[in-house]
Amino acid sequence: MGYRNYFAIMFFLLFLSVTTNTPCKAQLSTKFYDDTCPNALRTIRNSIRASISRERRMAASLLRLHFHDCFVQGCDASVLLDDAPKIISEKNALPNKGSARGFEVIEAAKAKVEKLCPGVVSCADILTVAARDASEMVGGPSWSVKLGRRDSTTASLVEAETSLPSFLAPLESLISSFKVQGLDARDLVALSGAHTIGQAQCVLFRDRIYNNGSHIDAGFARKRRHHCPKNEGNGNLAPLDLVTPNSFDNNYFKNLIQKKGLLESDQVLYSGGSTDKIVWEYSRNPKKFKSDFAAAMIKMSEIKPLTGHKGVIRRAKNRKNIYKAFFTTGANYISESSRVLA
Ligand code: HEM
Repeated sequence: MGYRNYFAIMFFLLFLSVTTNTPCKAQLSTKFYDDTCPNALRTIRNSIRASISRERRMAASLLRLHFHDCFVQGCDASVLLDDAPKIISEKNALPNKGSARGFEVIEAAKAKVEKLCPGVVSCADILTVAARDASEMVGGPSWSVKLGRRDSTTASLVEAETSLPSFLAPLESLISSFKVQGLDARDLVALSGAHTIGQAQCVLFRDRIYNNGSHIDAGFARKRRHHCPKNEGNGNLAPLDLVTPNSFDNNYFKNLIQKKGLLESDQVLYSGGSTDKIVWEYSRNPKKFKSDFAAAMIKMSEIKPLTGHKGVIRRAKNRKNIYKAFFTTGANYISESSRVLA
């Protein structure tokens, strides 16, 4: 073989290795938007910060929205889709209806980013970054977020009702619903620590405060009954952490040890079972709680992401705008969105 042929073959092999090496692109990466939208993260952060400054509870709502996204089909922004032909929105699933919040805040951040770099940054990444920024803004930990998730074109109401754990779930069932997502008992306890901020509706803890079982402090139950009457006020709110409801700290775990968990699913983490020791550890060591929380959030945010050629970059997060922009059939939407990306 002459030199010419040799170099031609080598060049061809090099070309192949570069062009078929797209799996590298399909990995999540902290630098994902460095070239395509270098100001994306700053823009999201400013937008999220402005929303939380207007309403501090929004930090809690955004953390929860990310959780409700990732546990259903993975972190693919399916939680944001409205009803449409071929889409039954997760917003109407029991854990979300009248409860999940923050959609308009994600929408506003997406609108800002779209202005900057149209069709580049996914809604799934915006949800992930928003959760991180929300934690940081209320005194919680911060962490480095890997990016490159893409958005789904489908949602699953059924999966939202089966995969998101119930507030009445016993410990073993909580552990197993986290296990199927690749999260262990320590992740469960750390992530439940998100209940150090935010609110819950009376209808969700009424049974617990009126039944006066063995795992509730009597004074705490009495206090909670004032704003959660037996037969009315379903939507009345109470803080998940009665001591410091607006700051991200480890009081949630101290409350559990005093039998002052608001939800049944909070208190089961400390009621003589296998997670008692983790709750105890976090109640004594706020630093360890925060670092485990950050690690578990990263793990959660990497549940089944759509990367590479899977999924789309949605131009809008809800049905109305997608419908206007792209929808005639699901297939048209996908090809049209892929074209936008090209
Ligand atoms: C372990 C299983 C979990 C159960 C059963 C559960 C259940 C609930 C329920 C019933 C509420 C109150 C909703 C309402 O009143 O409308 C709530 C609120 C909240 N949850 Fe969870 N949750 C769990 C895990 C998590 C995780 C993993 C996170 C985030 C990492 C999280 C973050 C929040 C936050 C921040 C709020 C307050 C939201 C707000 O004020 O808008 N939860 N959760």
